[in-house]
Amino acid sequence: MNTKGQPKKIAVFASGEGSNAEILFKKFPGQVSLLVCNKKDAPVIAKATSNHVPVAVIDKDWHTTGKPLAALLNESNIDLIVCAGFLLKIPDDIVRAYQGRMINIHPSLLPKFGGKGMYGQRVHEAVLAAGEKESGITIHFVNEHYDEGKTILQKKCTIDAGETVDSLSRKIQALEHKYLTEVVAQLLNQSKIKSQESGE
Ligand code: GRF
Repeated sequence: MNTKGQPKKIAVFASGEGSNAEILFKKFPGQVSLLVCNKKDAPVIAKATSNHVPVAVIDKDWHTTGKPLAALLNESNIDLIVCAGFLLKIPDDIVRAYQGRMINIHPSLLPKFGGKGMYGQRVHEAVLAAGEKESGITIHFVNEHYDEGKTILQKKCTIDAGETVDSLSRKIQALEHKYLTEVVAQLLNQSKIKSQESGE
């Protein structure tokens, strides 16, 4: 509940497939109040629609339906933003407005294999090329720099002999699908995740 006694509201930011986003839609029905996407034909949009989640497609100026995204988030009383496979760097004004209330999931053990251009299969390719013995996921707060915000949770998996990008990506996805909802549920229970309208 937020300070107005309403269930806290979540916006999910995603750019592509949306397997993590879909798990959030199903786990927090009614609470995921917005999907923000930067690609109008991304598969995640159909997943949102079939789960009755409103969709905002942003243009290159971060506008949607004629208004800045920041205004839409504010009007929608979003309490928590979850970036799950969102490929754009979030503008600093939104990062500041949601400091401590915006998280990202990354498919490596940050600070290793993070930063600009490190997403999707590229991460797993780099991990295997470096001869790592383990990889994993990092769920972290978002700050003004790619993949550098404070870590909330990391979970590891081993890299076995003969590991491929596909097999590693399946291991990582299983961790993501298990732990992202757990972290979101924990954050929703914390009082510091509050409604914007409370002004606190
Ligand atoms: C995930 O691996 C996530 O860690 C990364 O982008 C991927 C999104 O996958 N940020 P999906 O679109 O949720 O299937």
